Amino acid sequence: MNSDLKSHNTFGVSAQARAIHSIRTESELIAFLAADTSNTDLILGQGSNVLFTGDLPYRVGLLKLKGRRFKAFSEEEVLVTAAAGESWHDFVLWTLEEGFGGLENLALIPGSVGAAPIQNIGAYGVELKDHFYSCRAIDRSTQEEKVFNAEDCAFGYRNSIFKNECKNQFVIVEVTFKLSQRNHTLNLNYAPLKNWFSGKNIEKLRPADVAEAVCSIRRSKLPDPSILGNAGSFFKNPIITAEFTQSLLKKFPEAPLYPQANGTFKVAAGWLIDQLGLKGYRQGDAAVHDKQALVLVNLGSASGNDLKNLAQHIKKSVNETFGITLEEEVTFYP
Ligand code: FAD
Ligand code: EPU
Repeated sequence: MNSDLKSHNTFGVSAQARAIHSIRTESELIAFLAADTSNTDLILGQGSNVLFTGDLPYRVGLLKLKGRRFKAFSEEEVLVTAAAGESWHDFVLWTLEEGFGGLENLALIPGSVGAAPIQNIGAYGVELKDHFYSCRAIDRSTQEEKVFNAEDCAFGYRNSIFKNECKNQFVIVEVTFKLSQRNHTLNLNYAPLKNWFSGKNIEKLRPADVAEAVCSIRRSKLPDPSILGNAGSFFKNPIITAEFTQSLLKKFPEAPLYPQANGTFKVAAGWLIDQLGLKGYRQGDAAVHDKQALVLVNLGSASGNDLKNLAQHIKKSVNETFGITLEEEVTFYP
């Protein structure tokens, strides 16, 4: 296989891997991991949350495991399982076609099912953890299997055990969700979604209608990676203390803030970057998206390093003005 990663990352940046392997079965995965004695090779889904800042002196395994199934859990609920290599959005659409509710707010998030628990994907007021039941993973060093339930995964905002204690230790091979098969509870709390349905009769709304609205809102805000290279939000929305929030509000009373359960606040990083006048700012072909300042884009021939340099410039500017340190959501390699 050609070892250029350009078509395997949604930024569309070029980088050479030592080799690229397609992994279609669990036995192929086990063989791939067994050959990786230094535990350095990279497992990739659809490359929608990574930035290659240079060539990779190791192998890349593209996880292509396929399959999905469901079984009743109770009269109301069903357990739905998908293999890691399934496309997340196609999987969500399939659950909706089968009449299952729960994942509708997470429609159109790029990437694979297997990567979804890594950062506990979230959008429009719902996170993966809200419907997660378990996942099955292979230990990279021993090739033994382990099942993680929701508690084991220690999910947080764009966070899980797979980014902390178990970083780079497991490859998720399948994920199971507990979804509703009747009496669906819809989550329309997120402001843009609430506004979408305001004035409409929501009594008869189905989960699929919510997914359709989410897709429309997402398409109006976020660039399509097949047209404009990007990885969604480049940074996480920072969490700040109640005390810091008060001092921020004194200077910037209109700052978009989201109160968290533990008394802290999440502040919209896109707003912080936008306030600095950086929307549309470019350094060569690396640019801040002109409609959403939290999204960095490759206008054509940006390298991973160009995007990294732009990100550093943004971090420095945000820190100087607001005293807030942005943390990347995107993972850099090598
Ligand atoms: P990759 O980019 O291939 O991998 C990401 C990381 O996970 C890497 O470290 C990789 O090694 C690891 N990994 C991948 N698969 C496995 C596995 N099976 N086992 C163990 N480790 C694995 N995210 C959100 O949360 N909410 C959003 O609304 C959202 N919107 C986006 C919009 C756009 C336009 C884009 C481009 C991205 C967006 N994202 C969003 C980010 C991205 O969609 C998610 O992070 C997604 O889960 C990444 O999936 P992937 O298969 O592309 O992962
Ligand atoms: N805003 C600006 N200017 C901008 C961008 C945003 O002022 O250029 C303001 C908006 O007006 C709004 C606030 O910032 O008041 C939040 O913006 P938005 O609703 O677009 O959401 P976000 O916080 O930028 C987050 C997630 C997205 C997710 C959406 C919807 C993170 C890091 N990002 O974006 O996830 O799709 O909410 O739930 O949490 C991703 O993780 O890759 C991603 C796209």
